[in-house]
Amino acid sequence: MTGSPDISVSKDAEQLSHLAAVTIRDLIGRAIKARGFSFVALAGGETPLRVYQMLAADPVQSTIDWRHVHLFFGDERMVPPDDPASNYGMVFREMVSRIPIPTDNVHRIRGEASASDAGREYEAELQKWFGGSVPRFDIVLLGVGEDGHTASLFPGTDSLNEVSRMAIGYFVPQLKSWRVTLTLPVLLSARETLFLAAGKRKASVIARILGTGEPQANLPASMIRPTHGTVRWMLDEEAASLL
Ligand code: 6PG
Repeated sequence: MTGSPDISVSKDAEQLSHLAAVTIRDLIGRAIKARGFSFVALAGGETPLRVYQMLAADPVQSTIDWRHVHLFFGDERMVPPDDPASNYGMVFREMVSRIPIPTDNVHRIRGEASASDAGREYEAELQKWFGGSVPRFDIVLLGVGEDGHTASLFPGTDSLNEVSRMAIGYFVPQLKSWRVTLTLPVLLSARETLFLAAGKRKASVIARILGTGEPQANLPASMIRPTHGTVRWMLDEEAASLL
């Protein structure tokens, strides 16, 4: 990866989650101070769950002005919100249901719809809040899969070539299932991007991503190099063990 990415290594997943929660709290405050609002795209999967719990609990929760925060999603599985696999369902249970955020400030992807419909609806929501230009999120939270995917941008799929749509629904061959995801143009325009990775099983892909000089389509997470933004890799010792 060109340049020296901002990498932090925490002792364990709990310490990583705490560092991520306070970093997100601080970045939200900075965005509200500068522009009146903070627009955040959340990651799904397991890694950020504890971060959401910490953001929804004191001492962090009450230091965030949730009225001026808008929560979006980096991607979604095509399941209803009450399905255990739903990213929105997880975020709702662990955070949204516990914080004083206005309902209209939470912009979920309708997993119960078809991927195509949900993708177009989500794109319309993005255009409503960001205008016709490429959405520029204040904060994008991302995880990384062992195959190098991030959000639902999977290696070797056409999703990586999508540069006109801001969000798409597509069939992921590796999963044999449909996903909706933000596309690269959006992820590349973020002000602050936080990658979270914990555990030994992520060590190899983290070393490949952070060891590569150039973005690689077979490692989508390595392609996230916002032109005017900061990328923080927040790891625990196990995930960083091969660096
Ligand atoms: C999803 C995520 C996905 C996730 C990675 C890592 O919907 O699954 O958006 O990109 O961040 O797969 O998942 P874990 O945190 O569960 O390892």
